[in-house]
Amino acid sequence: MLLEYRAIQRREHGGTIVTAAKAVAHSNIALIKYWGKSNVERNLPAVPSLSMTLDALSTTTRVEFDASLTEDAVTLDGAAISGRPRERVCRVLDRVRERAGVGTRASVESANSFPTAAGLASSASGFAALVMAATRAAGLELSNAELSAWARQASVSAARSIYGGFAELDADAESAAPVAAKAHWDLGMVIALTARGPKSVSSTDGMLHTAKTSPYYPAWVEAAPALFQTARAAIERRDLDTLGEAMEHSTLLMHASMFGARPAVIYFAPPTLGVLDRIRQLRSDGVRAYFTMDAGPHVKVLARREDLGTLDDALRTVPGVVRTLQTGIGPDAHCEIEP
Ligand code: DP6
Repeated sequence: MLLEYRAIQRREHGGTIVTAAKAVAHSNIALIKYWGKSNVERNLPAVPSLSMTLDALSTTTRVEFDASLTEDAVTLDGAAISGRPRERVCRVLDRVRERAGVGTRASVESANSFPTAAGLASSASGFAALVMAATRAAGLELSNAELSAWARQASVSAARSIYGGFAELDADAESAAPVAAKAHWDLGMVIALTARGPKSVSSTDGMLHTAKTSPYYPAWVEAAPALFQTARAAIERRDLDTLGEAMEHSTLLMHASMFGARPAVIYFAPPTLGVLDRIRQLRSDGVRAYFTMDAGPHVKVLARREDLGTLDDALRTVPGVVRTLQTGIGPDAHCEIEP
């Protein structure tokens, strides 16, 4: 309780009260994917998803409600953000203000531990950290389930970043839930960055378009629950090969539904297929490694922690791979106490 209290900073600034809090949330990769909404207005997922939180990729966000501000000021890695990304942040702040009965504008300073420009998804860790810091700075004490529901309203995948280890989010669910803690299994990922620059179509737009135009979308939604159950049981008994097979099938079914959209949504770049091919070769050589891709050209490869070095060496030499990152499993999102 003392810890919770100390996480909120209060000070006088030119005669006005300022309250601030800082939170850290880790990015997550869906092993079983979410793609499509059952309710667009409430931002509810159409399919169940299951993720692993990553320790090497995190966002740290500090929110300060300051009565001297006339509008919300939002920065990411030191630069002011504007347009749609800023609007999404302000929407979260408005909800927090409404619930807490606070009228004050806020300054939001966010920093990613990984290169934002590389096109790695940062919205999951970003919105989880924002929701945690903003609610705490406004004096609200929310449960993890509530924090997850608030994060989900901003971005569905962010709901899972409240939890470390493995997390699940059921179809139509308001909030994610923990499946297994970080200590459950010594797995990790190598991320092969295959191209630079931001993604062409946002995941939000890509999935709405897929749902509207792809004849394969209903088949994707129908297949997802069984894959989710298979993966969940495989995590419980630490069965990497079953989990990996279900994970690859989930990602390929999701991308197949996008290929069937009109016009098609294609996130694959030429080197993406090169990485997939290398993973299959490595597997036939006895390396237990499995791939997944999201709304971008990069490939995330799941393996035992002890195999990450070998895997990294193999992936770095695939033509078109510009960089690799290794990561283990990350912790719960948490507030940081400022000195
Ligand atoms: C391919 O969570 O970014 O990464 O809810 O519209 O913000 P919105 O979508 P978002 O979609 C993520 C899609 C994915 C798969 C996943 O993370 O489950």
